[in-house]
Amino acid sequence: MALLKIRHYPDPVLKKVAAPVTEFDDALRQLANDMAETMYAAPGVGLAAPQVGISKRLTVIDCSARDEDAQLLVLVNPEIIDQEGEACEEEGCLSVPEYYAKVNRSARVKVRFQDLDEQSHIIEAQGLTAIACQHEIDHLDGILFVDHLSPLKRSIFRKKWKKIEEHLLGQM
Ligand code: NI
Repeated sequence: MALLKIRHYPDPVLKKVAAPVTEFDDALRQLANDMAETMYAAPGVGLAAPQVGISKRLTVIDCSARDEDAQLLVLVNPEIIDQEGEACEEEGCLSVPEYYAKVNRSARVKVRFQDLDEQSHIIEAQGLTAIACQHEIDHLDGILFVDHLSPLKRSIFRKKWKKIEEHLLGQM
């Protein structure tokens, strides 16, 4: 197990559309384990492979800290196949530390994905897990939660981000 380095906005890997996973091997298993460890250590409720510099369609999610029915989800090649309702919760992102904003999402989603053994599954998610699924699958398409903000809020974000970056550099 190893902690992976989390890439921060505006790292170009975060803007790339990630490639489908085609090799279901030990390296994929190791990556999923390391991503889960990195997510728990951060701590965060979700982490997508592009956030650790690997442009592949893999994400880990665990919302059990705030939703007791939740558990660790390892989603390979996930896609949203159905969605309904509306939600608007404050979101943050390990790649955009110290910044939080409300984002419009669907309240419930149906997600098709593969597990580490290449088996296909469909899950229905609601609450925080539904929001995390949408946030993480966005990462696989090169989209950050700040990309959903209005032009005005995005310009406020860019100004705030300059200060956050200076703060983060000061911590290094
Ligand atoms: Ni994120």
